[in-house]
Formats: sequence, structure tokens, C-alpha cells
Amino acid sequence: QLPCTVRELSEAAGVAATDILRLLMEEGVMTTIAAVMDPDLTELVAAELGLEVEFRDELTVEDEYLAEIRDREDAEEDLQPRAPIITFLGHVDHGKTSLIDKIIDTDVVSGESGGITQHIRAYTIFKNDQQISFVDTPGHEAFTEMRARGANVTDIAVLVVAADDGIMPQTEEAISHARAAEVPIIVALNKCDLPGVDANQAMQGLTAQELVPSEWGGDVEVVKTSAITGEGIDELLDTILTVAELHEFTANPDRPALGTCIEAQQESDRGVVSKVMVQNGTLRVGDVIVSGQAYGKVKAMYDTLIPTARLEEAGPSVPVNITGFDVAPGAGEAFYVLDDIAKARTIAEDRAHEARNSNLDVDVQHVTLENLFDR
Ligand code: GTP
Ligand code: MG
Repeated sequence: QLPCTVRELSEAAGVAATDILRLLMEEGVMTTIAAVMDPDLTELVAAELGLEVEFRDELTVEDEYLAEIRDREDAEEDLQPRAPIITFLGHVDHGKTSLIDKIIDTDVVSGESGGITQHIRAYTIFKNDQQISFVDTPGHEAFTEMRARGANVTDIAVLVVAADDGIMPQTEEAISHARAAEVPIIVALNKCDLPGVDANQAMQGLTAQELVPSEWGGDVEVVKTSAITGEGIDELLDTILTVAELHEFTANPDRPALGTCIEAQQESDRGVVSKVMVQNGTLRVGDVIVSGQAYGKVKAMYDTLIPTARLEEAGPSVPVNITGFDVAPGAGEAFYVLDDIAKARTIAEDRAHEARNSNLDVDVQHVTLENLFDR
């Protein structure tokens, strides 16, 4: 996907464009954010940022086969409304998990070790007869990649900004990811219950990020919330539903499922457990699936909110935990249902083979502001 522009690199890496421009300036290159960088320059800048760039070769036969499945168009009459997928992004401790807890009336935050979200959580719920799916991402700086993954499965991003703290490094990074995913952004200006918070100051910070609040004449909905008192929670939900209605998200439940593996781990008793988001079609127990270098048959399916609730199928926009993969697929990897287990095995094995033969270091480093400035 090269050459790429400063803006594209900024959005993909979650690093402010101004920081990239500054690095370029240090190299004696005066340019603008829309300017195209050649591959050498991209690599140089990426190296300065402590990032690996992967230069992708032509599509492999396997990828082409799967791309053909993915790009198979659904006939208009097969499309049905689906739940919007809402991802909460923002700086650490600004209240993402608390807000979701409040909306879906559960309590995840108090069970978290150290109060820090370390996983991508995903739930689907019904609210006033409307189905909505939520994705909660960690705000800690070490989880750049997880935020990027969350942004990639989303339809609408809710940017959580604590009013007492304002725009922080991972807020900016979250904005970049949401922009890269080209999804609408709603801002939850949270912790408005705290004494002495100045909402205007936070709104100025948003404006500086080119997110101009609608009450200031811009096009970004900013909802003042408190996950503690419940202030603004209904309004936030209404705003989410209004934006979702404008977009009329649809999918075809009557095709083999495809989607994204959000995370996966090996468990001693159940084998590989993967959290997947179905993005089109319907995933069923017994389906043959392939994801990255993993393949298998869906053995069991569980609700993500009630871990003991077993499910038989999951339609579009529904996240589920599944067992049945032979190895853990890479987080963020697309998954596909195929009709032939031999084909799935071949694809997974070929990919594993290719990865072993490739001497590319695929260990993507986390970009943090620390390693940006501690150079
Ligand atoms: P990470 O997942 O670690 O990125 O944090 P988070 O954004 O999910 O924040 P979390 O919901 O864990 O909240 C962090 C702390 O802020 C907790 O102690 C919450 O009780 C508190 N908090 C969250 N929302 C509010 C709010 O609206 N008002 C006040 N006063 N405190 C809040
Ligand atoms: Mg959290």
C-alpha cells in the first residue's frame, strides 16, 4: 500500500501528524500532511517512531480465494438491518468501561485487575427493543494495537474524554484510529460530576483536534456524561442510536459468516477460546472456519456477557466466544466460514508455512509517546 501520505501514516500508527512532520523536518524534508512519502522515507520515519512497516507482496492464492468470498456482494433483497457496533475509545481511566457498564447496567469495571482494561471486551444487548453491540478498548498506552483493532470492527466510535483531564495522548491516538477507520465520532465528555470541571476547556481541546462540538457550530455531537451519577447516559444512548439510524447498517444473515477475531487464548480446559465479531452472515456451531494460520470447526459458542450461556448461532454484529480453532488465530485477523475443512486446513497450513519461511520480523512494536520522545 505504498507510497503513503503523512496523514495515512499518522492515522495507521496513531501518531500525531505534527510529530511526523517534525521528524521529517529534522531530516530536512519540509512537507505537508497530504504529501506522499516514498517507501524509503516512510521506512525512515517509521523507524524513528519505533515502528515496523510491512511491505506486502502480491496477494497469495489463499488470500485471493478468501477475498473473493469477502467481496461477494449481497443482493439488495437479502440485506437486513443489523445492530450498530459502537466502540469506546479514549485515554486510560477516562471512564470507557464505567460508561458501558452504566449503559448496559452491568459491572465489569470493579472486577478488573488494577481497574485497567487489558482486553477488548465486546457485548451485544437489547435496549428498548433495539439491539446494540459495544466494544470496550483499553486506554493504557501499551495497547495501541488493541485500540486499532477495536476501531476496525466498529461502525461508530465513542471518544471518551474526562472533562477534568481533557485531551490526552491516547485521546489523540484514538481520534487517529477512528479517522483511519472512517467512522463517525461521538464524544462523551465524561466525569462532568466532578466539582470545578470546565467543560469549555475540554471542548476547546476537541476543537483543536478538528472535532468541533455541534453546540459551537461544528458537526460533532458532544454529550456531557457522568458514569457515576448517570447524567447524560440516556442522551448518549439516544445520540448513538440517532447516528446509527442515519447510517442504516445492514448485513445478510443468510450467508456463511465472516468477521474479525478480536482476541484468542489457549485455555487449559477448553483449548483455544477466541472472541470473534461476526460482521456478515451467521456463524453456527459446527461451521468450518479459518482465520490467519488457524482453522477448525466451531465446537462451542458462548455469550460474551454471560460466559456460561451457550449459543447455537450468532448473526451479524454479534460478538461471541468460540472454541474449536486448532491454534490461536492472531488478534485482528479476519475469519471466514468455508464449506470444506480440507480447504480450510490447506489455507491455514500454507499460511503457517509461508510465515515460517518469511524472515520478516512481524513483531510490531507499540508506539507510545515515550518511545517517540525518548530518542
Ligand atoms: P481503562 O480501561 O484503563 O483505559 O480505563 P477506563 O477508561 O475504562 O476507565 P474506568 O471506567 O475504569 O474508570 C476509571 C476511574 O474513573 C474509575 O475509578 C471510575 O470509577 C472513575 N470514573 C469513571 N467515570 C466517572 C465519572 O463519570 N465521574 C467520576 N467522578 N468518576 C468516574
Ligand atoms: Mg476500561
